[in-house]
Amino acid sequence: MKAYFEESDIRLDEFEAICKQSADLADYPLATAVQKNIVIYDGEKLRGMLDENEAVIRAEWIRCLKDGPGVFVIKGAYAETAVIDEMTVVFQQIVAQEKASKGEGGDHFGQNERIWNAIQKPCEIAPELFIEYYGNPFLALASKAWLGPYYQITAQMNSVKPGNKAQSPHRDYHLGFQNRATTAHFPAHVQVMSQYLTLQGAIAHGDMPLEMGPTLFLPFSQQYEAGYLTFHDEEFRAYFDAHKVQLPLEKGDMVYFSPALFHGAGENLGTTDRIANLVQISSAFGRPMETVNRSKIVEKVYPILLDKVEQGVISTRLVNDTVAAMADGYSFPTNLDSDPPIGGNVPVTAQQLVHEALGQKRPLTDLMQSLAAHAERRTA
Ligand SMILES: [Fe+2]
Repeated sequence: MKAYFEESDIRLDEFEAICKQSADLADYPLATAVQKNIVIYDGEKLRGMLDENEAVIRAEWIRCLKDGPGVFVIKGAYAETAVIDEMTVVFQQIVAQEKASKGEGGDHFGQNERIWNAIQKPCEIAPELFIEYYGNPFLALASKAWLGPYYQITAQMNSVKPGNKAQSPHRDYHLGFQNRATTAHFPAHVQVMSQYLTLQGAIAHGDMPLEMGPTLFLPFSQQYEAGYLTFHDEEFRAYFDAHKVQLPLEKGDMVYFSPALFHGAGENLGTTDRIANLVQISSAFGRPMETVNRSKIVEKVYPILLDKVEQGVISTRLVNDTVAAMADGYSFPTNLDSDPPIGGNVPVTAQQLVHEALGQKRPLTDLMQSLAAHAERRTA
């Protein structure tokens, strides 16, 4: 593998060859069907074999997500769909409260309803329901299969209104949120590895026939290594449009897919809202070993840096490299209600605030206020 992907590494013909594969039911002995290259499992059957055969299920799911089509569905993932209905009521309550308190919130793909942090908010309202809903064995098993133990779950509820247009095809968090120029700075091996740090899932909160626009997928597309650089490209989008697949879902079904799979929400041509809870599970490995109070470091170092910048006795390289060691350079994790992205998918970082302050030669007290406000709005 090259150190970095370049323009010349981007090849639609290679992408096509990958996406032309087909999934064979014989490779997935626990599945009940393969439809449109999506592997389908029966929740009832899996529940019956969980205690004795957990490792076998995990191995099959890993094969599907990594070397197979990259997406599978569990039909009837909850023994009782009443759990889903109860959670839908809680979600509606949260949406109503948020609308009343802050007006129509900022959703980044149209006039829909979205609940950020749909794991903590319902838990605060209905902790018993949390056990039945988020304690679901398949949520745990899929997470453990893809990420290993110590994973962390986050969730966002999406309610998509009738008439809402389809989403552009994309890959998901992490690199799916960055623009192409930023992605290109990440070495090729890091781009490929990043898909192993998260798992995407969705829990259907109602029946979703095709006309309601359940998620569109391009099976096998997660296997294309340079894909984080190409999902914005016209020719790749056109290929997605020509070959995307979609399965109807029913209330209580779950879908899991590799974050590197090309996908997008479909157009809702139905008459009712399409409600899904999108779960995103993160590997334990995205975190450093120690906690560091970076604001203390900024407090000590910034005045010296500013002084040197004002005197013109420090190189831009040394400023940049020092800021990279001082402050947090990544936008996540954050509270997306109070720290929304501005003009893109990624909220401002502490490093950006330090650079901005240095550029404007602002005093330390000013910067510390900005950083405190920044930290505050990132808290859940
Ligand atoms: Fe997505």
